[in-house]
Amino acid sequence: MTYRIAVLGERADGERRVAATPETVRKLIALGAQLAVESGAGAQAAISDQSYVDAGAGIGSRAEVLSGADLILTVQGADPTSIAEARSGVRLMGALDPHGQRARVSALAEAGIEALAMELIPRITRAQSMDILSSQSNLAGYKAVIDAASAYGRVFPMMMTAAGTVPAARVFVMGVGVAGLQAIATARRLGAQVSATDVRAATKEQIESLGAKAIFVEKVAGITGEGKGGYASEMSDEYRAAQAELVSGHIAKQDIVITTALIPGRPAPRLITDAQVATMKPGSVIFDLAVAQGGNVEGSVADQVVVRHGVTLLGYRNVPAHLATESSALFARNLYNFIAAFWDKDAKTLQLPDDDEIVRAIRLTRDGQVVHPVLTNG
Ligand code: NAI
Repeated sequence: MTYRIAVLGERADGERRVAATPETVRKLIALGAQLAVESGAGAQAAISDQSYVDAGAGIGSRAEVLSGADLILTVQGADPTSIAEARSGVRLMGALDPHGQRARVSALAEAGIEALAMELIPRITRAQSMDILSSQSNLAGYKAVIDAASAYGRVFPMMMTAAGTVPAARVFVMGVGVAGLQAIATARRLGAQVSATDVRAATKEQIESLGAKAIFVEKVAGITGEGKGGYASEMSDEYRAAQAELVSGHIAKQDIVITTALIPGRPAPRLITDAQVATMKPGSVIFDLAVAQGGNVEGSVADQVVVRHGVTLLGYRNVPAHLATESSALFARNLYNFIAAFWDKDAKTLQLPDDDEIVRAIRLTRDGQVVHPVLTNG
């Protein structure tokens, strides 16, 4: 029996991405799989049904593509009721938000669906090409700067003209993970004067190597800020106070601030208070990339433009969806890279060994049970 892969259209509000592109469809077919794409699935990422057909996929209704599928590819997962035509034992891949959607994970288990949460891909070298958080954050960091630049009623680069000099915009990036690094690089390319901060000491060198100024809390003992897997851990009160003071002084002089700070499994840390916003010059812009996780900036509201004290606060729940063509291309490649790595070339089927580190990290449900240790341990 040929291995059948279904690609679904996304139903979540504001989602424009799609989990497979004509490029990955071709590659999956080359592995020996048969592909069926829900009609219109790529429309919002500027990918037509015809381009999937040209790549070798079938196009059909949701029920048609689900029928007989062995693997379902999604961006944001699906409720079991919306994939009722799928057979028991089918695998569902996507960013399944296991912490935020526990009830859905249980329902997927009960429906006999094997759920694979791609945002839990471990940060090990072997899995780098499958890491959806990295690929999507990188684009989000870029888009945040572009949108902030567009909302900023002034220019980024220094310009020397016959009528006089226009100063460069000052951009401050808070949180220097994947998104923050791309934000620094993008702001530098646009000609801004860039500074950045993070709680992880290791980022200082990365900031400087991109030509930006590192703004760091010094002399607070014993803190490197590095938690498990290179992620940030929560800070001490002492560190938090020192950081707030340092940032207050710096923020007042900035034109644009991009915040990206996240701590896995917790609400986003609050980095900027309303009182700090008030110290900025009117016309300044803050882009809060953490708005969906509770926000780094007091007063920012997801998907709304808020003006506080003359400062524009921006933030979208789903920044990658605002660059749907590129974010889909990278997301789809991440899924393809995972499938290719676990593809049994002889049997032409996906084999997920129970003892594999990557499989263990992402498998949420199996055989009617929730099996992921983080979810079963409460
Ligand atoms: P993230 O999205 O979880 O957080 C963004 C940034 O916010 C992090 O740099 C974090 O340290 C910072 N942050 C948290 N609390 C803060 C606070 N109070 N003030 C200022 N900054 C704060 O991080 P992301 O982008 O997922 O990357 C985390 C690390 O993982 C990076 O070192 C990255 O290079 C590494 N990484 C490794 C991969 C691999 O080995 N396969 C793949 C992707 C990332």
